[in-house]
Amino acid sequence: MEIRLWRELLIPYELAVKELVMKFNHLKKEHQEKDLYSPIEEVTGRVKSINSILEKMQRKNISWEELEEKVEDIAGVRIICQFYEDIEKVADLIRNRSDMQVLEIKDYVTHMKESGYRSYHMIIGYSTETLEGKKEIRAEIQIRTLAMNFWATIEHSLQYKYKGNMPPHLAERLTNAANSIIQLDTEMSSVRNEVMDAQNSMLHQSNLVADILNNIENLYHYSNKREVAKIQDEFYRIYKRKDLKQLERFHRELDIIAEGYQAQALNFKGIEGSWQR
Ligand code: GTP
Ligand code: MG
Repeated sequence: MEIRLWRELLIPYELAVKELVMKFNHLKKEHQEKDLYSPIEEVTGRVKSINSILEKMQRKNISWEELEEKVEDIAGVRIICQFYEDIEKVADLIRNRSDMQVLEIKDYVTHMKESGYRSYHMIIGYSTETLEGKKEIRAEIQIRTLAMNFWATIEHSLQYKYKGNMPPHLAERLTNAANSIIQLDTEMSSVRNEVMDAQNSMLHQSNLVADILNNIENLYHYSNKREVAKIQDEFYRIYKRKDLKQLERFHRELDIIAEGYQAQALNFKGIEGSWQR
């Protein structure tokens, strides 16, 4: 039998998982920087263990030649959303990307599995570049809500414990729990708009504060320290009032002041520059 070089086989998959997790986390960050509610709450990824790959090959009678085509989850990424509606948003984000091609969809959200499992799966084609050159691989992206993830995590542990022979009373409990999860997600959806509003304004405020303090710090380097201290005092006074509108106004005013100082500093540099020449 030919020697299997597992570590070599897994290199592009390891790279893909790292890249994909980074890209989805970055999408979340982009939303936040634009004060936008992010449909992505959390991203995790893993490369399937050799033990699980072997087990799956055996269970599904997959040959070595078919391994990379048929074991679609060697690279796996999981995207957790807060709300049911976010799942479709994330799926759309993925569909619209040019760096991953959707090859297959398994919608266990609308078609719950018999076990009670719910999650939206996308098998994608993804291109990696290693020392060996370009390599196209497949990856599985699982998209689910926090509640669905809670259920799947618990059920997975029990499945592992009973190795496919789950006692009927436990299986029934899990089915009941799965129905409660559907109810919970529906209940939560009814407050989604309010939660989104709240999170948007939280993001907005946190971006505003970061921006203001950044501006104050820059001013400190250019200009009269006593004046900057006064501006800072004014900021803390307004901050205590917890009034977003006032904070916004302060932010705008500070921007104008900062621009003024920047123009001055540029002029000064201009003079300095010509003097040095
Ligand atoms: P495997 O189940 O991985 O052998 O692959 P498959 O080709 O049958 O695909 P399927 O879509 O059924 O499952 C893909 C993945 O979804 C699994 O590897 C699990 O991570 C997850 N999954 C599927 N069914 C269940 C389930 O009943 N319970 C839990 N906890 N996870 C599941
Ligand atoms: Mg399965």
